[in-house]
Amino acid sequence: MQEVLLNATTSATLHPLNLMNQTFDLIIRNASVIDGSKAPRFHADIAIRADKIAAVGKLDGAGADSELDASGLVAAPGFIDAHTHDDRLLLSAPEMTPKLSQGVTTVVVGNCGISLAPLEWSSARGAMPPPLDLLDDGTWFRFPSFAAYLAELRSCPAAINAACLVGHSTLRIQTMDELERPANSKEIARMQELARAALQAGAVGISTGTYYPPAAAAPTQELIEVCRPLREHGGVFVTHMRDESEHVIDSLDETFLIGRTLGVPVVISHHKVAGIANFGRSKETLAHIARHLPQQPIGLDCYPYAASSTVLSADRLKSALRVLVTWSKPHPEFAGMELSTVAQRMGVSAEAAAQRLLPAGAIYFSMQEDDVRRILSFEETMIGSDGLPHDAFPHPRLWGTFPRVLGHYTREVGLFDLETAVHKMTGLPAAKFGLAGRGLLQPGFYADIVLFDAQQIQDRATFEQPRQNAAGVRDVFVNGRCAWNHAGATGARSGHVLSRA
Ligand code: ZN
Ligand code: CU
Repeated sequence: MQEVLLNATTSATLHPLNLMNQTFDLIIRNASVIDGSKAPRFHADIAIRADKIAAVGKLDGAGADSELDASGLVAAPGFIDAHTHDDRLLLSAPEMTPKLSQGVTTVVVGNCGISLAPLEWSSARGAMPPPLDLLDDGTWFRFPSFAAYLAELRSCPAAINAACLVGHSTLRIQTMDELERPANSKEIARMQELARAALQAGAVGISTGTYYPPAAAAPTQELIEVCRPLREHGGVFVTHMRDESEHVIDSLDETFLIGRTLGVPVVISHHKVAGIANFGRSKETLAHIARHLPQQPIGLDCYPYAASSTVLSADRLKSALRVLVTWSKPHPEFAGMELSTVAQRMGVSAEAAAQRLLPAGAIYFSMQEDDVRRILSFEETMIGSDGLPHDAFPHPRLWGTFPRVLGHYTREVGLFDLETAVHKMTGLPAAKFGLAGRGLLQPGFYADIVLFDAQQIQDRATFEQPRQNAAGVRDVFVNGRCAWNHAGATGARSGHVLSRA
């Protein structure tokens, strides 16, 4: 790719003379800047003062308390993981190593209808209903309000930023005694009140997961009513749709209808067409999304693998080519094993083995590579890991998503250029989620910055060995502080709770 010098329109404000008497906290010198807007890269120095980017350009005359030579490295805005389940990880492992090691500086949490708050769970209510058990089996569900959760995040900051969604399934569990039916008007009013309070406290949107049992009985109208407060707070409607297989078009239509009725942007989570019978149908779904884009704001995210991961369920086995066990409460010894091997050892069918492992999690090889590539390449698609940090043997997307897009899909496969790849993980998600001052490497923006080697960057996490740092990520800055250098985490905890613009 051609490297260009700073263009004429910005050079006036960045002339070295203007900066002669200024000192900065840090200057990163000689970087190849990819600024997150999809603009071509250019050579520049980057000056940081406090938590902001103070200048980008030729800073020969300027001084700083410390300097870093980034020759041969790309400097990009810190990556924004558009889809995570890190609600609890931010508090229980605030170093956030699986994400920081990839260059991620912001996570969007509370996806798929499941957020850690507001929910107070006592073991007297029995086992935590799946899929909420992906976050915790109970004790961490101790926040009576979303404000209480955000207050704890603010008082014990993590190494990276968080933008938080409140989950509709969480609201249902907090509000309803029985989940296999639509909410009544009293319950809807209560959920709406909790949703409004969460948005007031700083949630950036509401997520739903009508695919999963705790919310499957919720009709469209319930979702609309619970999500009413989104508009007044400028929030986003984010959804793990009811169906990502045979009826995926109906699910897209339901999502678009909710967005139009409420007058709010929608984000389709981990877009995919799952199940062997649906291979190739991303042509149809992306065309459908493209047709609706001129009428309403739509976003979507995708992880760069042809295998999904969630709770284990016997119903889901038929649609997958292979199933791997990621955790099992009664049988932890089978984590990391093929379900077919487990079934063989138990001397039962795969369905019966799955039943015996519950509660449990799994990886399903249920997508076609061509669909994954088509969806990743779609202009509006953001990158989201959907990583499950508490699984005993997690899907490699938890540690590998961002370097895999940059290394495998950009450098090796050539799906798109590096500027586009970076945009999908920075400027685009910042715009779709309305994260002010994030997602671009420009003066005035927060100093969330990643330095990486474009030739070396690569995911090392695999289905066999899922917990591996990426190669090629050199330094990561979060709000101006170095949180990761090639030696590892620095221990800085400078993450903020982000709110919408
Ligand atoms: Zn989901
Ligand atoms: Cu998810």
